Amino acid sequence: MAQTENNMPRHIAIIMDGNGRWAKKRGLPRTAGHSAGGEAFRNIANYCRTLGVEYLTVYAFSTENWKRSEEEVSGIMKLLGKYLEEALRDMEKNHVRFRFFGDLSRLSPQLQKLCLDAQSRSSQYDEVQVNFCLNYGGRDEIIRGIRQFAQDVAAGKKSPNDLNEEEFSRYLDSAGVPDPELVIRPSGERRISNFLTWQTVYSEFVFMDVLWPDFGPEHLDAAIAEYQKRNRRFGGA
Ligand code: IPE
Ligand code: IPE
Ligand code: MG
Repeated sequence: MAQTENNMPRHIAIIMDGNGRWAKKRGLPRTAGHSAGGEAFRNIANYCRTLGVEYLTVYAFSTENWKRSEEEVSGIMKLLGKYLEEALRDMEKNHVRFRFFGDLSRLSPQLQKLCLDAQSRSSQYDEVQVNFCLNYGGRDEIIRGIRQFAQDVAAGKKSPNDLNEEEFSRYLDSAGVPDPELVIRPSGERRISNFLTWQTVYSEFVFMDVLWPDFGPEHLDAAIAEYQKRNRRFGGA
């Protein structure tokens, strides 16, 4: 796992958590928290670009988040649509390359189309790549990869003996993306909640008490500083 010369992580992953509590503290509906969380994301994506971080992976909606009220889910989907429309409009200014991790097939056809448009129209940009996790679950990603590999075996394109870690990585949503060196979870929760199960086996985790809508460049700086103090061994002595 390569580190850059100045020990900046190439790939940072963030669980954007705490929107609901942020709204509750202010007596606002949960959707207001998600909206403020969207602003925090915009700000951090931009900051990552100025820092020279190559990949930013954000957890926006998990395979478990469908358990929430119909009102909250539809509010989140509406906000995502609005955000993607704006991103498509401002693409030339932002220079963010988008990729989507997760099973998009459960999203509305309109939202799926916005995701595919954002992905294809931004593929020319070579600054920060944002991997947006939507209807994403680490286990679901692995199962989808296994299913695809099994189909390739059944079609005679692959043999079971071809399977190794490197080969299997190509069947994941994250194909071609290096593993994240740093995973940040704000909001005070200290768990992984089905995020990047395969990719985080050697990541450094930084848990922070700040709620996601309050997360700013200073919090990212603090998480990176904490990461830079750590001694990474990868199983060596
Ligand atoms: C994260 O914030 C956003 C999503 C999971 C969609 P939450 O909505 O989980 O906020 P809390 O954890 O309830 O504060
Ligand atoms: C994880 O947060 C998912 C996202 C931030 C998108 P949750 O709020 O859904 O996770 P739990 O329920 O606290 O584990
Ligand atoms: Mg939460």
